[in-house]
Amino acid sequence: MSHSTSPLGKDLIGLEHLSAEQIRSILDTAEPFKEISERRIKKVPVLRGKTIVNLFLEPSTRTRISFEFAEKRLSADTVNIASTGSSVQKGETLVDTARNLEAMRIDMVVIRHWASGAAQFLADRIPSNVINAGDGAHEHPTQALLDILTIRDHRGSLEGLRVCVVGDIVHSRVARSNIFGLLKLGAEVAVCGPRTLLPTGIETLGVRVFHRVEEAIEWADVLNVLRLQLERMQGGFIPSLREYNRFYGVTREKIERAPRDLLILHPGPMNRGVEIDSDVADGPHSVILKQVTNGVAVRMAVLYLLAGGQPEQAEAAKRGGGGRG
Ligand code: CP
Repeated sequence: MSHSTSPLGKDLIGLEHLSAEQIRSILDTAEPFKEISERRIKKVPVLRGKTIVNLFLEPSTRTRISFEFAEKRLSADTVNIASTGSSVQKGETLVDTARNLEAMRIDMVVIRHWASGAAQFLADRIPSNVINAGDGAHEHPTQALLDILTIRDHRGSLEGLRVCVVGDIVHSRVARSNIFGLLKLGAEVAVCGPRTLLPTGIETLGVRVFHRVEEAIEWADVLNVLRLQLERMQGGFIPSLREYNRFYGVTREKIERAPRDLLILHPGPMNRGVEIDSDVADGPHSVILKQVTNGVAVRMAVLYLLAGGQPEQAEAAKRGGGGRG
């Protein structure tokens, strides 16, 4: 199969370098794939014969399992590798690991890595398609795509919609991918957090900045609430979790003052009672579990398109027709 037939090119590393048309083609391809997960037998032969390695060198529940479901539901053969139990623990380099996998004739690698740039580094060195499942604080493109698909499902067009990403922006690959994707699709984007959790110069990406969550709630149609990434903090970013919740936590009391019908997203995993209270996470404005459901369809779409499938043939492909280049 020729990579040049893919509308996305060889790899999916981030949304920064995708066009609005490419992003829309992924979202539109995900639409027909949603239905596969609702069937009694959740399997179509779209990727039969393809071998995919899920190389997760950082913890993950949603992304790893959702990629694996997407691959299995499209009939690919899959192998999962984590650092524990692999030769990564013995010091084998990323490229050596990947080249050994290539020697066993694989087609795609889905990689999560702690280092920003790891996915691109790998993509430049192996012929297989590489999909970034989150690299350091760089990008998490499939998370942003599923966030955007969920917003589109509930609000229709992204054009002119006001989306605010709230919380730990400085450590967040999800924030960066959301900002790139949402701006390309015509949304107005803001970020909100304490100065210590906002990257210097974030405005240059084309976003508004709020330092008070009450102002962000007054402005926004959609809040995407991010987890405080406590494992990436050496201390000194916030005085205490209790104070963070008081000043930046998304609570029922705060969202009840919103002038619009707010949509609340969170990429997970959540720190309940810190960045989001349970009665918001589980309340009527929340679409958090719908994000998770959409994640499988988005990942199916990315796999299908990188394998050479065409967006306009996705409907036929899932019914057992052609559609893969
Ligand atoms: N949203 C997200 O990436 O979750 P996981 O770390 O569980 O994959």
